[in-house]
Amino acid sequence: MLVLGLETSCDETGVALYDSERGLLADALFSQIDLHRVYGGVVPELASRDHVKRMLPLIREVLEQAGRAPADIEAIAYTAGPGLVGALLVGASCAQALAFAWNIPAIGVHHMEGHLLAPMLEEQPPQFPFVALLVSGGHTQLVRVDGIGRYELLGESLDDAAGEAFDKTAKLIGLNYPGGPEIARLAEQGTPGRFVFPRPMTDRPGLAFSFSGLKTFALNTWQQCRDAGDDGEQTRCDLSLAFQQAVVETLTIKCKRALKQTGLKRLVIAGGVSANKALRASLEQMLAGIKGQVFYARPKFCTDNGAMIAYAGCQRLLAGQRQDLAISVQARWPMEQLPAI
Ligand code: KG4
Ligand code: ZN
Repeated sequence: MLVLGLETSCDETGVALYDSERGLLADALFSQIDLHRVYGGVVPELASRDHVKRMLPLIREVLEQAGRAPADIEAIAYTAGPGLVGALLVGASCAQALAFAWNIPAIGVHHMEGHLLAPMLEEQPPQFPFVALLVSGGHTQLVRVDGIGRYELLGESLDDAAGEAFDKTAKLIGLNYPGGPEIARLAEQGTPGRFVFPRPMTDRPGLAFSFSGLKTFALNTWQQCRDAGDDGEQTRCDLSLAFQQAVVETLTIKCKRALKQTGLKRLVIAGGVSANKALRASLEQMLAGIKGQVFYARPKFCTDNGAMIAYAGCQRLLAGQRQDLAISVQARWPMEQLPAI
């Protein structure tokens, strides 16, 4: 089955063509980062308008890349939530209009299920069951995964998501949006041990996270440095390193706990923050210690993309799931509500 995937939940227009027999045939992405950078974050109305502009040219681009014609497409998968409603509606209406015109099915995909399944596009995909750490701009969750749609939430953030903490902390110290890659870049030049941030909620049992305190800790430390006239590039690097180490160690401790609690040895990390090299290295070390294995997608499929939506939608379509032509999207949508296949 040849599936066209459309992703428009936030500030990236992602389009891909996935074939259930041959795998991923083509993918294209337009990132709106430059559009939103001057505002220091995503402006929803601008995001929606830009998705409208990019969608059809990107669809033509993937068809050309794959050497396929519109008539070859057998189904369309689009992100139906969670995300920005205006942005989601662009992908949903485009998908439903094309599906109606081409007389093929369309299916709404859960954005976080897309992220969760993105490592399945790699050469050595993980086998079920596994523990998944979902770390994006909007979510930080530990999930036990027994199959597609068989999700048990083990723990999640009580406040900011990990990616959100990266973005907010970066903004506080004067770095560009999105902050995750910026902090990771500066951390490479950081002085180990100059600042030490807390590891929130690791001193008590459980799998919940809380990252908003780290942002406040960063703000106070940065203000002290500024008062002392020490707010140059090196201090930004040192703060970036200390912040990143705190997030990485906290996530590693909780992943280890989740594996112990479930008795599983396979860990999947997905979502934008899973592109972070320090996080990957720390988890690989931890998994090596317990003779387990960690799986993740190539960096461009960690952040938002159309390939993960095409893949997830294809699996559900192959299992016979169908939906009507209604254009409905959801800003909030717990992943545990998804049907199993
Ligand atoms: O999954 P994603 O593209 O979008 C959402 O679904 O939210 O995740 C975006 C988040 C942003 O907060 C961004 O700062 C973070 O992922 N991010 C990173 C890195 N690359 C992206 N955080 C840390 N290190 C990175 N290398
Ligand atoms: Zn995402």
